[in-house]
Amino acid sequence: MTNYPELIARRFGDDGPSGEGVPDNEFIRRVLARKTVRRYSDTVPDEALLDLLVAAALSASAKSDFQQASLLRLTDPAKRTAIGALFPSMPWIGVAPVFFVFLGDARRLQRIGELRQKPVRNGTLEGFFNASIDAALAMQTMILCAESAGLGACPISVIRNEIDKVAAILKLPDLVFPVAGLCLGYPQGEGHVSLRVPRRATTHSDSYGDSALSDAIDDYDRRRNARHAIPRDQQRSNAEFGEAAFYGWSEDKARQAAKAEGAAFPPYLRSHGFTLD
Ligand SMILES: Cc1cc2nc3c(=O)[nH]c(=O)nc-3n(C[C@H](O)[C@H](O)[C@H](O)COP(=O)(O)O)c2cc1C
Repeated sequence: MTNYPELIARRFGDDGPSGEGVPDNEFIRRVLARKTVRRYSDTVPDEALLDLLVAAALSASAKSDFQQASLLRLTDPAKRTAIGALFPSMPWIGVAPVFFVFLGDARRLQRIGELRQKPVRNGTLEGFFNASIDAALAMQTMILCAESAGLGACPISVIRNEIDKVAAILKLPDLVFPVAGLCLGYPQGEGHVSLRVPRRATTHSDSYGDSALSDAIDDYDRRRNARHAIPRDQQRSNAEFGEAAFYGWSEDKARQAAKAEGAAFPPYLRSHGFTLD
């Protein structure tokens, strides 16, 4: 692997800080060069390695030490197929050698309160948010550890778009909800490092300011397009917005965000123990 300036240029290309002069650290270099992987070889990761990755994931920081992440490994072929079939546009969900689901788990603390005969108000927005963050941190910890062990990973939050069916397949009780699935396997093919929005738009010093956003995004769109242009036939919602002569990242994300997603999730949460107050 190469040095920090080269890796940072590949990730951002924004002429920001380059890490020059900082002592070499292999883990940081790996993170700078990481990429989501959606195609896997047939080699199935060792069970002992997967157990180790679970231990690493559950070593992530946890809000108030409440420890509200749970991991569910989906091995049953029938259940894998059933979940995969819900998302035909993402075939990697059904075929990845390994599939975990990272759960926000507000139930365990609720049960502990009952065991210790204390009232627990964990169905609130705070309880939901804390459990979500714990699960997300556990997932990212597993991703980085898996990548450093040579595996590739792809988080799968689209499972929340079919929350009722997914929860039925996984038999999730009240106060337990999926934050995301995670496909794991040994990468097939190279993939590419995804260029990030310039740091002058995503980092702030002492106070928040986004006056440079418009220029930064135009610049980003141009540079990202030069590296990986979005093909004309992949423009979203042309019937609604028309075909764009220049279709950059920001046009794509604005069109994507114009469509509400996850409509089934709030009613699911409210009918499964979360008041979200
Ligand atoms: C919370 C979360 C949910 C995601 N859900 C999906 C998903 O459902 N399907 C998918 O193919 N990729 C999913 N991704 C992967 C993102 O598309 C990917 O991280 C993003 O394009 C940036 O690419 P990179 O990770 O290679 O830098 C998800 C990522 C995150 C962090």
